[in-house]
Amino acid sequence: MSVSPRSDGVQRVDIRLLYSMKEKGEKVALLTAYDYPFALIEDCCGIDVILVGDSLGMTVLGHETTLPVSMDVMLEHTGAVVRATRRAMVIGDMPFLSFQTSARDAVMNAGRFLKEAGAHGVKIEGGVRVRETARAIVDAGIPLLGHVGLTPQSVQQFGGFGVQGKDATKAARIVEDAKALVDAGAFAIIAECIPAQVTQILLEEVPIPIYGIGAGDCDGQILVIHDLVGLFEQFLPKFAKKYADVSSLVKEAVRSYANDVRKGAFPGAEHQYSIKSEELERLRALLKS
Ligand code: KIV
Repeated sequence: MSVSPRSDGVQRVDIRLLYSMKEKGEKVALLTAYDYPFALIEDCCGIDVILVGDSLGMTVLGHETTLPVSMDVMLEHTGAVVRATRRAMVIGDMPFLSFQTSARDAVMNAGRFLKEAGAHGVKIEGGVRVRETARAIVDAGIPLLGHVGLTPQSVQQFGGFGVQGKDATKAARIVEDAKALVDAGAFAIIAECIPAQVTQILLEEVPIPIYGIGAGDCDGQILVIHDLVGLFEQFLPKFAKKYADVSSLVKEAVRSYANDVRKGAFPGAEHQYSIKSEELERLRALLKS
């Protein structure tokens, strides 16, 4: 069996399991989570790999891009997700400028995800241009997930969050990026927002698992949890499927609460604490004396 045994009997998903799933043609379900309650739900519902994505900069912190996210913020959120999980493999997403500056910075920051937050691996964006950095992270014994296609930390270079690899030259670059990550020792690659046919070529050209987001059929899929449950209302990418409308549910609950408060219907007797009547009398007497 290709998973690590643990004292509580739950076997944590690891690279060997992911490889054996690919071999058997079993799809992997990945999802982002940024906090303890969502990670608890995802782990108990059988999500195999949880990515603590720097997309939290947009979905949780309200920034327009992922660029302002810091290492400290990522470590705090990754720690919360790790504490909630027993089975899922947890990957920390390395934020902008935590790995681009030098291979040494990259190894030190990647190591912090494992040492301080308890993550089981890290993700970096890019391919050919991060090959040596990726290799340094892998050489330090850190499982590395790559990310090609639409890499949101380069949004200013791309000029938006559009589909990548729509012409042959650009698609060939994406294949080269994926090959560079394989060469560096990445255990798998996320392909974001690329034509489904280009993903099929990636699957033919690289031996490691390809997990897609807006990339069509491949070894597994990843979505942003806020898109999946309808909590991020600014926009829903074409590739995301909204499985629930949690935002409407929460709005209904919040409106009902505010109405109840305004009309004095909350708190009810069942939500209040009381002291014994003799203690109340004693209190009044004490106040009078
Ligand atoms: O930050 C993120 O959530 C991601 C996924 C969209 C792959 O990188």
